[in-house]
Amino acid sequence: MQPVQHLADYRPWPFLLSQTRLDLTLAGRGTIVRAALDLAMRDPDAPEDLILDGGAGLQLRALTIDGQAPDPAHVTRTDERLTIAAAALPRAPFILETEVAIDPEANTAFEGLYLSGGIFCTQCEAEGFRHITFYPDRPDVMTVFHVTLRSDLPVLLSNGNPVRTDAGVAEWHDPWPKPAYLFALVAGDLVAVSDRFTTRSGREVALNVWVRPGDQDRAGFAMESLVASMRWDEDVYGREYDLDVFNIVAVDDFNMGAMENKGLNIFNSKLVLASPDTATDTDYERIEAVIAHEYFHNWTGNRITCRDWFQLCLKEGLTVYRDQQFTSDLRSAAVKRIEDVQTMRARQFREDQGPLAHPPRPDRYEEINNFYTATVYEKGAEVIGMLKLLVGDEAYARALDLYFTRHDGDAATIEDWLTVFQDATGRDLTQFKRWYTDAGTPVLEMVEDWQDGTLTLSFAQSTPPTPGQPDKPARVIPIAVGLIGPDGDEVAPTRVLEMTEARESFTFSGLGARPVVSALRGFSAPVMLKRLMDDATRAFLLAHDTDPFARWEAGRELALSALIHGDPAASAYIDAIGALAADESADPAFRALCLTLPGEEEIATRMAAEGSTPDPDAIHATRGDLARRIALAHQDLLSRLYDEMTVPGAYSPDAASAARRSLRIATLGLLARIDGGERAEILFGVASNMTERMAALAVLVRLDRAGSALKVLEAEFADNRLVMDKWFAIQVMAAPPAQAVAVARDLAARRDFDWKNPNRFRALLGGLAGNHAGFHAADGSGYDFTADWLMRMDAANPQIAARMSTAFETWPRYDAARGARARAALERIAALEGLSRNTREMVSRMIA
Ligand code: ARG
Ligand code: ZN
Repeated sequence: MQPVQHLADYRPWPFLLSQTRLDLTLAGRGTIVRAALDLAMRDPDAPEDLILDGGAGLQLRALTIDGQAPDPAHVTRTDERLTIAAAALPRAPFILETEVAIDPEANTAFEGLYLSGGIFCTQCEAEGFRHITFYPDRPDVMTVFHVTLRSDLPVLLSNGNPVRTDAGVAEWHDPWPKPAYLFALVAGDLVAVSDRFTTRSGREVALNVWVRPGDQDRAGFAMESLVASMRWDEDVYGREYDLDVFNIVAVDDFNMGAMENKGLNIFNSKLVLASPDTATDTDYERIEAVIAHEYFHNWTGNRITCRDWFQLCLKEGLTVYRDQQFTSDLRSAAVKRIEDVQTMRARQFREDQGPLAHPPRPDRYEEINNFYTATVYEKGAEVIGMLKLLVGDEAYARALDLYFTRHDGDAATIEDWLTVFQDATGRDLTQFKRWYTDAGTPVLEMVEDWQDGTLTLSFAQSTPPTPGQPDKPARVIPIAVGLIGPDGDEVAPTRVLEMTEARESFTFSGLGARPVVSALRGFSAPVMLKRLMDDATRAFLLAHDTDPFARWEAGRELALSALIHGDPAASAYIDAIGALAADESADPAFRALCLTLPGEEEIATRMAAEGSTPDPDAIHATRGDLARRIALAHQDLLSRLYDEMTVPGAYSPDAASAARRSLRIATLGLLARIDGGERAEILFGVASNMTERMAALAVLVRLDRAGSALKVLEAEFADNRLVMDKWFAIQVMAAPPAQAVAVARDLAARRDFDWKNPNRFRALLGGLAGNHAGFHAADGSGYDFTADWLMRMDAANPQIAARMSTAFETWPRYDAARGARARAALERIAALEGLSRNTREMVSRMIA
């Protein structure tokens, strides 16, 4: 069993690798991989054993050093590595050649080389390359790759530029040194949607989005998104593309969203394929963002990579930050910010609150794949946003230029990144670094004092204990604050207060009348802000705040207070929300966000943070009641908006059209509380786009009257996997909680519940986890059903099982009876013989 890995144990690899030549003869069973590695000892005076990573699935057929087979006594093979004793190694540079056989067809873990519906493809991040050949599979070993692919399949792709393509054989050369996790190959019967891009220094780049024959008409949006990303990275970060070709391939079996392999990005097909009748507005926005994310990795990830996997947020936090900026620039910045904060709270705050809490840069792990988390990605991005706020836009731009010039070609660390900012700005970032090393969501309390024209804001910060970190020192917290006068005008524009102590006060003087404080504007730090504020003041901010995030947040606070404490907050919220919905000067998407109540999970997270025990059934009922009250109070307004917010003409996924649809859908959801689902029934029948059809379907499922709509959709899309994934997910996610587990059980028995496909599995099990009161059913049936499937999945695909196990991460916050059932389910998983390292680590952290 692999021991715990520690950041403190880092040491460079004792060898140098200058070139990797791979020659693969592809077959479902018995793919032959020949590798030639040009190696040299770093210090020939202190020879060390050569240790290469290599999984149990590699069957070693030949091994030579400079053409000679070493004495077998010097070679040791375990299930995880191959060791060649120092005694068998030349002191001068040498060439190590190996030949192994592997079985891509048997690879259900989708890590390394595997087959997905007849397409050979790879996933090597983080440690998949070791399932292809024996290799120093670590990100700080970077080398030039030369790859030969042999197969009768028509399309043979790898990283870099094509050198030769003949019948049955293709050669690729990647001039940019890279770690093995960025290696990729694809072979299959594929067709391309193609375009060209000329970089600003004049390089001609051929662009291809490769899909299965028949899917070309759904690949156009992905291509447009790629071109927009390439242009944006030149314009905003001055980053150009650096090869002659850029290939994107869509595959159906993929553990995550997508992968930034150099020059050959491989995508989950759900993040490439889109047409108005199959994809929703949310899908389009996600596709655009993920295409950009993977493209942006070419600089932040590939040209500058990570020294070791503890530094994962160096590339992921920065690349998420960049893709968020891209979406803000292309669409509505205000709406994007609010969506990102919602994601942070729903996923990252939830993670921070439970047994899986960890810092953006962890210092220990057992299985790195368990750390592709909201904390590493989303909080990693928030930390960069804070850094930019603290140093200013101009200094941020200078620091990034320095980062790209200083570290191009490097495998870098968080320390390198912070040093760049220190050097570019002269600022000491020692305290700021705690955001990277400390887990937990700080709680920030704010108290106001008003005297003689002077407003004093006193803050106190504290971070609850997290696993392994009982006490945490104060952090630097940028608190963006603006002041609104009693008449609704802004009397002090946004000022960023820099809090560095556990307790600190700031004053605003020379004020005529007592203003209303708009705090944590733009969500300037990922903290939980606690302040005493009455409902009238919240309603005032919801009406007048000039900062869109803070304005939305005021409504959110009012809604949470209404949901948790009932009246009078509820009536204040209902009044305020009506005024906002009627405000035609506000962006429809913003109005939709304000009209959508916090989800049940978010309510539970808030209750737990306030020290109470959430009751899932009560939360579900209360939320439904409040929605019904809103609908009754604003019936006419909502139904007028529902009728007005249609979008004339052919469907377009642009932000303005999507905004109107989102407001229409928000009103549909509320009106369904009082019209019995009549509008949804009609809309499902007449809508020609998937956005409205899915919204209508969700309402019908919730009302338990979706039977015929589900049949219609199934008949229409039985052979469209992506639509059927939605069909599976919505039935479980929106089911009345008391039925959710039964619905999931019935669906799991269907022949088309192809559970080894990660998307289909996630649709069903993720759908159940997303049904808060259903998953947390008091009888424990949600826990048991999920545990059964996790155990089954673990044997086939440990990464997916481990990831889905996070459905349980909040268990300690519920009542004792639920807690006992959840723990029993986790213990049952832990006791499974042969449980993967992935799932074992997750489960043991959760029951520690
Ligand atoms: N680097 C990829 C991305 O964020 C994610 C790949 C993660 N893969 C994994 N098996 N953990 O863009
Ligand atoms: Zn990424």
